[in-house]
Amino acid sequence: MTDPVVRDVAPSTEAFLEAVCAGLTADPKTLPCKFLYDETGARLFEAICTLDEYYPTRTELSILMQHAAEMAAELGPHVRLVEPGSGSLQKVRFLLDHLTDPVDFVPIDISLEQLTEEARQVAVDFPGIDVHPVCADYTAGFSLPEVPDQAARTVVFFPGSTIGNLEPGEAREFLERMAQVVGPRGAILLGVDLKKDLDVLHAAYDDAAGVTAAFNKNLLARINRELDADFDLASFEHSARYEAAPSRMVLELVSTREQRVSIAGTAFRFAAGEPIRTEYSHKPSHADVVAMAAATGLAVRRCWTDARAWFGVFLLERAA
Ligand code: TRP
Repeated sequence: MTDPVVRDVAPSTEAFLEAVCAGLTADPKTLPCKFLYDETGARLFEAICTLDEYYPTRTELSILMQHAAEMAAELGPHVRLVEPGSGSLQKVRFLLDHLTDPVDFVPIDISLEQLTEEARQVAVDFPGIDVHPVCADYTAGFSLPEVPDQAARTVVFFPGSTIGNLEPGEAREFLERMAQVVGPRGAILLGVDLKKDLDVLHAAYDDAAGVTAAFNKNLLARINRELDADFDLASFEHSARYEAAPSRMVLELVSTREQRVSIAGTAFRFAAGEPIRTEYSHKPSHADVVAMAAATGLAVRRCWTDARAWFGVFLLERAA
């Protein structure tokens, strides 16, 4: 394995402060969801993934476990695999287990430490594959190592329904960029959490034990810790509500009273009942995914799903 190519590092405190101030002066107020995942946030999100109510992670893993051989057969031999936001590198192993002579694996992640460690382990466990980690914020654009001569095609693997956390316009732009990365003969393997019964969604995003609430509120605690702020955590409530068009969960922190919060010397006013939006989690139908792909010149070639059709792993290729 080569040492990670460092294109970018984690956002600086100044960039964090700037993003927080921009979000809180917007109307309606919002905070970028990527800041949910500091060390505490990452730990809380891992706890969410093990909750009975939080089905997406478990469901996607079961689909990968059951169908990875078929996915690998569809992708073909000598693949160069690129994974933006690769994290723990758990899911891609199902593919690597089944791909025929993959030539190159390029995990891209913002966390240099995790990236280096996990990539090294993959290189050990799959000695036939070249691993070329790239440390970058994939939402900000990135450049990739050269395509090896032996590569038959490039495949972008983007699991976790992370595309659902982008706004519709951003999701289209992201798909367009990935379509460029893989080129005309490439493919995108995309995990998408699908539209389903509202009770299931509400439970998943507002669990009984309050782990999701703690995860969401940790963003305010993080701002207090890192940006010299004085959010009163008891005066904000976690909220998860469904919007029908487009189909999505809206995650918010709602101010329970009129209050002022100081962040690095600047005061921000909150009305009683005023929300700060922290994340969208889109829940498209199968037809919505087909339409989104079509809007970027891509077609859904295959979709693997669970028995209840709660989650889909979509194979997208350039439309004929
Ligand atoms: N990407 C996850 C999702 O959309 C993140 C998430 C789960 C989340 N629960 C949350 C984000 C609550 C904010 C608040 O499922």
